[in-house]
Amino acid sequence: MRGTRILLGVTGGIAAYKSPDLVRRLRERGAEVQVVMTAGAREFIAPMTFQAVSGRDVRLDLWDAAGEAAMSHIELARWADLVLVAPATANFVARLAHGHADDLLTTLCLATSAPVALAPAMNRQMWANAATAANIALLRSRGIAIHGPGVGDQACGETGDGRMLEPIELADLVMQAGSPAGVLAGKRVVITAGPTRERIDPVRFISNRSSGKMGFAVASAAQAAGAEVVLVAGPVALATPPGVRRIDVDDAAQMLAATFAEIAGTDIFIATAAVADYRPAQPAAKKIKKTSESLALEMQRTTDILAAVAALAEPPFVVGFAAETDSVEQYARQKLLKKKLDMIAANEVGHDKVFEKDDNALLVLWRTGRRELPQAPKSELAKQLVALIAEVYTETRVATRQEQVRA
Ligand code: CTP
Repeated sequence: MRGTRILLGVTGGIAAYKSPDLVRRLRERGAEVQVVMTAGAREFIAPMTFQAVSGRDVRLDLWDAAGEAAMSHIELARWADLVLVAPATANFVARLAHGHADDLLTTLCLATSAPVALAPAMNRQMWANAATAANIALLRSRGIAIHGPGVGDQACGETGDGRMLEPIELADLVMQAGSPAGVLAGKRVVITAGPTRERIDPVRFISNRSSGKMGFAVASAAQAAGAEVVLVAGPVALATPPGVRRIDVDDAAQMLAATFAEIAGTDIFIATAAVADYRPAQPAAKKIKKTSESLALEMQRTTDILAAVAALAEPPFVVGFAAETDSVEQYARQKLLKKKLDMIAANEVGHDKVFEKDDNALLVLWRTGRRELPQAPKSELAKQLVALIAEVYTETRVATRQEQVRA
């Protein structure tokens, strides 16, 4: 079996000194690595270093006759199973976002049908700049995976967002599941998980028994399948799965705001959270004293985050969860149609089932099908669910495209 073929683009940032180590890490994991350097990269590191660690001639120039004779840039673009650019500078991000093909690496990125992933590395102000943010959002909306950047000390002496992820983290990210072209490679997935807490007064809240385990397992499985994953998590005591970006929230309103702040460019939205359906209409500013024999709390409905995402003009592929105590399939199908979802994963709750447990079983329904995923550990079930989501997502997209062609 041949190794996964990775075309590693190196652009001109100080983090380029880490890229030879990245080549080694990728090769340790069984990949074949072909390095392509930009002119800027050569200001930081010599091609010979990459040749030594990759065991292949480094490609430098679109106009290199000898290189083109050995393998033309179009052949090289076809050769790759994945194009990874690490580090990707602000300038490279801008050129790629605007479709430039003015050097070998940008040309390869346009000419390849393989997934493209970037590991940005730059000064924190450059990363925070609106132009960079817009370019990154544009690339994400086109299915390009953005790994990192990480936070920490920078070469310029500042501290903040903008560091390239460590070679070992990057190698694990792209090589997970044995193939960088996992079933969700290049896809952006937003997941809500856990309970919410709705404030009654400064020391009390209304919440529920959701542990967040299923949502975290789905986030981990989606990441392992190659997706860029954002996890909007209510208050839970769980570790963030590696490679997943987590946003902590407390109440339903914050979960809604965080979800909508992340939804642009998202391919798949999975709502596993047990969002409170009602919140105290007027949370007290001070602790409520026990002055009367009874206390009535007026509650008001929260926004249904799942239904709100499904109602967007251009919604992502939307997956909801349903917890039912009876008539599981009937109620779940009603929810699928009423909330205009693409898919719903239903489970039976009550009698100590599901909540806080490590096992679960799911009945998954979509417009044209159903599948039962039998009792299994949540981590295993999450993998099966993610594989099924990827399958139905692809089928739906192909069907929609064909309908558009026909129309
Ligand atoms: N959901 C949401 N925002 C809410 C409420 C629910 O995103 N404010 C999502 C959940 O994450 C889950 C699905 O909607 O994916 C659950 O649907 P829902 O109709 O809330 O189920 P139940 O609460 O069981 O509803 P009902 O009590 O009407 O059966």
